[in-house]
Amino acid sequence: MGIFRSDIEKMKGYTPGEQPPPGTEYLKLNTNENPYPPSPRVKEAILEEMERLRLYPEPMADRLRERISEIYQVPAENILAGNGSDELLTMVTRTFADKGDLVVFPTPTYTLYKTLCEIQGARCYQVPFREDFSLNEDFISQKAKIVFIANPNSPSGTVVAEDVLARIASRISGVLVIDEAYVDFARKNCQGLLAKHKNVIILRTLSKSFSLAGLRVGYALAEKTIIENLHKVKDSYNVSRLSIAGGAAALGDIAWMRENMKKIIASRRRLVWGLKELGFSIYPSESNFVLARIEFYPAEQIYRQLKRRKILVRYYDTPVLKDCLRISIGTDQDIKRLIVEIAEITGWKSPQQKVECAKLKEFENIYHSQKRKTEG
Ligand SMILES: Cc1ncc(COP(=O)(O)O)c(C=O)c1O
Repeated sequence: MGIFRSDIEKMKGYTPGEQPPPGTEYLKLNTNENPYPPSPRVKEAILEEMERLRLYPEPMADRLRERISEIYQVPAENILAGNGSDELLTMVTRTFADKGDLVVFPTPTYTLYKTLCEIQGARCYQVPFREDFSLNEDFISQKAKIVFIANPNSPSGTVVAEDVLARIASRISGVLVIDEAYVDFARKNCQGLLAKHKNVIILRTLSKSFSLAGLRVGYALAEKTIIENLHKVKDSYNVSRLSIAGGAAALGDIAWMRENMKKIIASRRRLVWGLKELGFSIYPSESNFVLARIEFYPAEQIYRQLKRRKILVRYYDTPVLKDCLRISIGTDQDIKRLIVEIAEITGWKSPQQKVECAKLKEFENIYHSQKRKTEG
């Protein structure tokens, strides 16, 4: 039509994970939400804050920043709060990437990075991960203005070691953004890199481990001048009063989050075991989801048939991932239902077992005895 910026007109736009309409009865294992509710303190804090909705929120979300500062031992001047980490990713792209600048990230990864580059008119250089999802760091160009690395990565759930990230940070002229959306499910975080590398930005979110995807709270940790410059591009009141209050309350109940974490990590072990029994190969996950590859049955058909049975998992219609499903970790009950449904869809056959597990009952018995072993 000629009225749009040509970059925008050409681009496809980001497609968020499927969100079924309210009131429909799906088991949602497709967008890595937490199956457990947030701390009850969140509701209390939000209800109380409702009294003050007439007033604008604090522009820098000070209450939230102070909580983050206390918990993670980072001065408040090194913290910026965002309306989810997606907003922080937008701010980073707007701050560091000019039209035509180089932005690098390994693939497959979080597809929003590409969309943000396209909006900005930056050049994306996508470095394919090796087959085992280790990173071929030699491809990371020194000229990169931004390098995005989701760690743990989505959709693989795998992690890149801290020393690899340190080498990238010291080699590039721009910033290294370590997107730690799933870090609470991993063995360690990369916060230690901030002291040595002034060009590292760590992004985190309360959407996953704190069960607050609907509230939209995220934060960035970085050197003071980076925070000051990100601040210039942010909306004045980017985090709402309810999000500040609820986010601060959630962070004030770390024990609640850790308890859920333990449950999810234990369920992850059970899901991996069940899927392997059915003949899937699983990438080593340090996240609240797993990437499962299946070669003896079309992954897309499993996705479609699960959907018909009211279970949503993530299927990617791209050549590298066409044999894969990404499955979020639900409760033990959710996982049992999923495994049994997949077994029914694939006809209880798997090359590993070389036998047909003819009866559901039999499978359930195996599942329960394994569960007792893992717990005992
Ligand atoms: C790697 C990664 N980064 C960031 C986000 C966005 O998180 P938020 O809900 O804080 O915007 C997601 C969401 O799924 C993600 O997978």
